[in-house]
Amino acid sequence: MATARKSRSKNGHSNNMVNLDSGTISREIFVSPEIYAQEQEQLFARAWLFIGHESQVSKPGDFFVSSMGEESVILCRDRQGEVHVFLNSCAHRGMKVCRYDEGNTPVFSCPYHGWSYATDGKLVGVPYFKDAYQEKLDKSKWGLPEVAQICNYKGAIWATWDKHAPSFKEYMGGFLTYLDFLLDTWDGAGGEVEVFGGVEKWVIPCNWKFPAENFIGDRYHNISHRSVDMVGQGPSGSGRRDMQEREGATALDISFPERGHGTITFLRADDKVIPAYQHSKIVSEYFAHCEVERRKNYGQWARLVPGPSTVFPNMSYLPRQPRTISAWHPRGPDSHEAWRWFLIDKNAPAEVKEFLRHYYISYSGPAGLTEQDDMENWNYAHNASQGVIARRFPYNYQMGMGFDGPPVDTDGLDMPGKIRNVTAAKATEHNQRGFYQRWSEFMNVGDWDTLATWRNGHANGTNTGNGKAL
Ligand code: FES
Ligand code: FE
Repeated sequence: MATARKSRSKNGHSNNMVNLDSGTISREIFVSPEIYAQEQEQLFARAWLFIGHESQVSKPGDFFVSSMGEESVILCRDRQGEVHVFLNSCAHRGMKVCRYDEGNTPVFSCPYHGWSYATDGKLVGVPYFKDAYQEKLDKSKWGLPEVAQICNYKGAIWATWDKHAPSFKEYMGGFLTYLDFLLDTWDGAGGEVEVFGGVEKWVIPCNWKFPAENFIGDRYHNISHRSVDMVGQGPSGSGRRDMQEREGATALDISFPERGHGTITFLRADDKVIPAYQHSKIVSEYFAHCEVERRKNYGQWARLVPGPSTVFPNMSYLPRQPRTISAWHPRGPDSHEAWRWFLIDKNAPAEVKEFLRHYYISYSGPAGLTEQDDMENWNYAHNASQGVIARRFPYNYQMGMGFDGPPVDTDGLDMPGKIRNVTAAKATEHNQRGFYQRWSEFMNVGDWDTLATWRNGHANGTNTGNGKAL
């Protein structure tokens, strides 16, 4: 069986699997168990991964069980108020020490033989410590394994198992500019944002990269959502596409191939205040007020209307309509768990929260009409790509290759990333190619000296002149 590592080419890219010269990608990277196993080692054990939001663990003893790659981890605020992420597997024989989704606890007690761990992951209780271990067991060495690095960025908690990985901010580079629109309050004033309700979790029978690449920039799949358009599920209640703030705006696809992140966004030409939601008077007035404040706080950046995005490798988000975070947790080559958090401004009026609750759950998640359309495609695409014949034929990622599109006029905004103006072309696979370039590097490269290409001046997170063909 060919593997991504074996097919490494001179330039570090996988010629057989991810061929950015021809714009083709082998189906093997979606269906091969060997490549999937390599991803766990090369990708998920090294990259920064999204864990949860600080509002989920606001009090000492609060915990939320999350996932890093295939493995269960516990996000917990200890008794001193510090936030930790540790492996949810007992140091004695590996039993899952916490089998709840979330809660508050003074201690995690292993149900197998009873070792217990404090909220900072330290081993504090061992049955028969005196008689069975003659008090010789060094408890300080047998706590729950803790991640190598953790970062709370504007309330979002991230972690990596790799102590050599760059800091979260370096890993993100200029992409933080776009992530901020998700994590800040709607008015950009720096207030509190919280996770609204529970986290939706469900299984999608396809490889985790299908949704990750869809969110990074698939403007092309609108045909999939025709039924939702006909039902009329938009933020003003008259149609899915009644996102009036996007009308007349310049459509930009922004890729960070040296980091793997990407976003699709819209740049408005004017300063007109258009509330993002206009479903009722109260809702409309609230978002109009936020928009006015947003202009004061963001200045010209308030003209940016951000859209679907992916933080490499498996965190995607929608910053506005609806405002959600998703993590695509791998569960074998043919399956992943989709987890979806909904964010809301803590001080929004109750009527606004109630409206958003309805909008969120009818749009996204397993019961969300729009997400159901997407899942249907991913399920069947994956399934139809598994056969021995199907696997001989690569997928096509050639859209927009070698075509820079019209110049990008960001009107004085120094927007980070490699930007394509796709207003006329409607779509490109510029962002997807950036994602797989980075995927290929992670799968083929052994150390961060090589992976951190931006340190060597090969690439950076700044606007590189708009549209260098990937
Ligand atoms: Fe946890 Fe034995 S497995 S105490
Ligand atoms: Fe979609």
